[in-house]
Parts: sequence; C-alpha cells; structure tokens
Amino acid sequence: MMQALIEPVVVDCDPGVDDALALAMILATPKLDLVGVTTVFGNLGIDQVTANAAGLLALAGRGNIPVAKGAVSSLTGKFSGGVPHVHGKDGLGDQSLLSGVQSSPLGKHHAAVQLVSMAKESRSNGGLTLVALGPLTNLALALQIDPEFDTYVKRVVLMGGNAFCMGNATPAAEANMLGDPEAADIVFGARWPVTMVGLDVTHKVLLSSEQLSRIAAQPGFSGSVTSRTVPFYQSFLKRMNGIDGIYCHDPSAVAFLLAPELFQTRALPVRVETKGISRGKIWPSLGDTDDESPEPWQDRPAIEICTDVQGPKVSSLIERALLES
Ligand code: BDR
Ligand code: CA
Repeated sequence: MMQALIEPVVVDCDPGVDDALALAMILATPKLDLVGVTTVFGNLGIDQVTANAAGLLALAGRGNIPVAKGAVSSLTGKFSGGVPHVHGKDGLGDQSLLSGVQSSPLGKHHAAVQLVSMAKESRSNGGLTLVALGPLTNLALALQIDPEFDTYVKRVVLMGGNAFCMGNATPAAEANMLGDPEAADIVFGARWPVTMVGLDVTHKVLLSSEQLSRIAAQPGFSGSVTSRTVPFYQSFLKRMNGIDGIYCHDPSAVAFLLAPELFQTRALPVRVETKGISRGKIWPSLGDTDDESPEPWQDRPAIEICTDVQGPKVSSLIERALLES
C-alpha cells in the first residue's frame, strides 16, 4: 500500500494572531510533522513572541515540540517595537489565552544554531521544509553560522513581500520584509528553493466573519485560538481596511504546502531594497528591461513568487484545516 509522505516542517515565527492560526493548521494536518519552532522578533519583542510560541504548543498539548528563541533585532540591530495595535499587547489579542498554561522549557541554543542542527539531522529523512512567518533574520544568521545550511534544507516557504502590489507596513514594503530587508536579500540569494507567499496572494485569501464564527465555535485548540485572539486582529482590519473578516497572511503559506495547485507562480530573481523610502520592497526582475539582466539581479537564483491565487478555495482549505483541530 502506498503511504502518504509525511513532510517534516520547522516554523520560524513571531506569534502573532495569524502565526497562531498557521501553527494550528500545521498541528491539525497529519501529513505535516512539526519538528520544531523557532522565534524571531517581529509582531512584538522576542520574549513575548517566544512565550507565545511555547504557550501555544503547550495549549495544543504539543509542548514536546522544541522551541528555540532567536533574533532580538534585525541583522543591522533594528527593531521598531512591533505592532501591538495589530495583534494586541500580548500579541494574541489581549484575551489572556495563555494565562495558566504551563510551557515546556525553551531549547538551550539560539534559533539559528537550532535551525542548522535540525536541518542537518533531517537530511536522512528527505530534508526539512522551513516555513518562515516573520522577518528572515534567523535564516540569514544560520547561513552565517554554516554557509552550507541552504544545502541541508529541502525548501523554504515564506510569508512576506509584495512583488506586484503595494506594501502593508509602508506603501512600499510588507511587514516581514521591512523587519529585516538585509536578511531577506540574503535568503533570496541563497541556493535553496524559495517560495514567496506574499501580499500579492494573501490579500486575496480572506476568512469571513461567518467562517471565523464556525471555527471559533469548535471546542479544540483552533476554536480557542480563533475565539480569543482573532477579534482584536479582526477589528483592526475592519478599521484599517474595511474588511469583514481577516486576511490569512501566515496561514496562506501553510495552504501553499497543502495545495500548491491553487496558487499561480512565476520564477524570478529577487533583490530587496535596503535604503530610503522603499526599504523592504522586494524587486523581482522580469528580464524585460533594456538590460536583460541588470547587475544587481545577475547570478541570483529564481524565486518561486506566488502571483495569484484561487482565494475562496484557499480560504475553504484553511477553514477545513482549522475545523480539524
Ligand atoms: C505578516 O506580518 C505580520 O504582522 C504577520 O504575522 C504576517 O507574518 C503580514 O504582513
Ligand atoms: Ca508572522
């Protein structure tokens, strides 16, 4: 009998309401094996997002999954203080979701060290899929620690960037890319296969308030996460963007793992702007300029950029996954 292949996954994240939903999806999906979680500053400071990651796993009854704390700031030492107005002061909607939850101790090593060792270990097991849901600092640091790191990893699927649309953190840039553009430029230039699930598609994947109510009514982990963390995020999006529901940024990266056929992609080399008002903007080269391959893009690998998506189908897939846990 054919056995469904199980994909070992490490999530590098900054929870964050949508990071929490992405974790819930992975935990509910038998073909994905969450072997570790690493954390990075982003939505809030590193201590808060790390406590959130460990607490969420404990709440899900999966406190055995190792959590390693990572970068406190970008490669150049920048951290803006995060976005408590988007995710709440506790990063999880300010409804004390994790109060009284006993988390397992954190791993001893820095996230970047832990990433290298998990990637090395999983080489005999088909290789590791890295799902990156925050600034890319830990991945860039891991490449600095071990320049062969990109060859140990099977693939990187990341939420971030805006190839052919506006940003969300600034008119130019998406939040995760703005968090550490220097790191992102390193990650996009490395030898691993990278898929970018950015705003070009995540702004087309909405969970409606009806879908959210159905998930929130579930008794399990996703139900608690949705009923307690989502309302804060949802009211921010209503105020800011006038939508009735939420954009599924981080969950869309997980959806890509499960149903890539619902996404349209283009393979293009990418650079990331690190200066000025466009800091954090990713620039794919279409090869249609006067100079077919301008110098900054020369010899850069092609990144699989998600350019379009069957939004309602992906949103149903996310709902179904969340109803499972
Ligand atoms: C990304 O930024 C963070 O606020 C979210 O968690 C997501 O990873 C969306 O731009
Ligand atoms: Ca995130």
